[in-house]
Amino acid sequence: MADSGEHANIGLLGCGTIGSGVFHLVGKNERLLTMAAGRPLRISRILVKQIDEPRPFPVDRSLLTTDATAVLQDPGIDVFIELIGGIEQARSFALDVLGRGKHLVTANKELIACHGRELMEEAARSGSQVRFEASVGGGIPLIRPLEESLGGDRVQKIMGIVNGTTNYILTRMSDEGSTYAEALAGAQELGFAEADPGADVEGADAASKLAILCSIAFNTGVTDTQVYREGIQGVRPEDLENAREMGYAIKLLAVAISEDDGISARVHPTMIPLEHPLASVSGNFNAIFVTGESVGDLMFYGQGAGSLPTATAVLGDVVNIVRNMDRPPTSRRSYWSRAANVKSIDDALTRFYMVLRVLDRPGVLAQIAGVFGDNQVSLESVVQKGFGDNAQIVMITHQVTERNFQEARKRLESLDVVLEIPSVIRVESE
Ligand code: HSE
Repeated sequence: MADSGEHANIGLLGCGTIGSGVFHLVGKNERLLTMAAGRPLRISRILVKQIDEPRPFPVDRSLLTTDATAVLQDPGIDVFIELIGGIEQARSFALDVLGRGKHLVTANKELIACHGRELMEEAARSGSQVRFEASVGGGIPLIRPLEESLGGDRVQKIMGIVNGTTNYILTRMSDEGSTYAEALAGAQELGFAEADPGADVEGADAASKLAILCSIAFNTGVTDTQVYREGIQGVRPEDLENAREMGYAIKLLAVAISEDDGISARVHPTMIPLEHPLASVSGNFNAIFVTGESVGDLMFYGQGAGSLPTATAVLGDVVNIVRNMDRPPTSRRSYWSRAANVKSIDDALTRFYMVLRVLDRPGVLAQIAGVFGDNQVSLESVVQKGFGDNAQIVMITHQVTERNFQEARKRLESLDVVLEIPSVIRVESE
């Protein structure tokens, strides 16, 4: 380490919610961190967009600069923490510091989900390390448990609530009977949802996180664009009520399954049995259920976002890097270079909940059943709700391929007796 004495010097790139939390914890937990890392940590420079932006924790103003080159090219810095978010500038900063043999910690899920392979390759070339525990599940330790603790097992399935905003919205809808729009507005008022909630409610945030989890758990490079996704905007209060009556909760689940013929990776609203541990994860909490061939079922639960939880995960990565900084680099994560065989959503095998608004007259159910039968869709339960102008058929299928189900859905939409299909939600089998 250049002129740093015994300290490990850290350069913070970005100092908002997470960065100021990191600064706070480095001061507050100085002794703990020194013991864990084997030497004291010192934040030596902080790159910011604006010196005076509001931050949840105060930072030492003398360390702040808007001069990116001065921070990136500071030879005394050992570890950079990238917290600026977004993709292009973060990627350019990351490649710059890795190219100069510096270590990198990032909480940036989009960066890892899009460019993980490129960063790992650059790190391998220069003998540096890249760590990203905070990119999935905020403060929940996930990456290292999957990568190291479960290194001797074959992970078969990951199923998780990895987006707190949508879990908060669905919890409010379920608890209060409110519509999606009402619950979103409430979440925004309380600061649980961004003013522009697109990435959360459309499932993009969860898809990036699932891509990272797949890459680690299944030893292959999965990118966010390979993950099928649907958001929660179409979930109706009636669906949550129907689900509860049938013994289910509705969650935005990220599901990945490793199968002989490839990986199935998808994010969508899902009905899950009320007795499943994920069903009771409420509010903005995250939880990830992992099934290993030998270890069986595991569940990781905690705060998926927030200043101090996420800063804790960032510092765990820094500790890990600093402890190993003087050892020769290892060639871990070569698996990012193996492009994953991710199966088309058409081949996914799930059950479906479907609501049809229909004409209330004899023979309607027979026509609907005929369409399902023609497409090899077997029905598990069928209930008529309402009558006359408001007749609705609520059904749940047995397991069926997405392809067959969607074909049946298309045919149903073209029947004169079907007025509308207001809802289709996948159902997780036990
Ligand atoms: N926006 C994310 C969530 C947190 O709602 O869980 C950051 O990944």
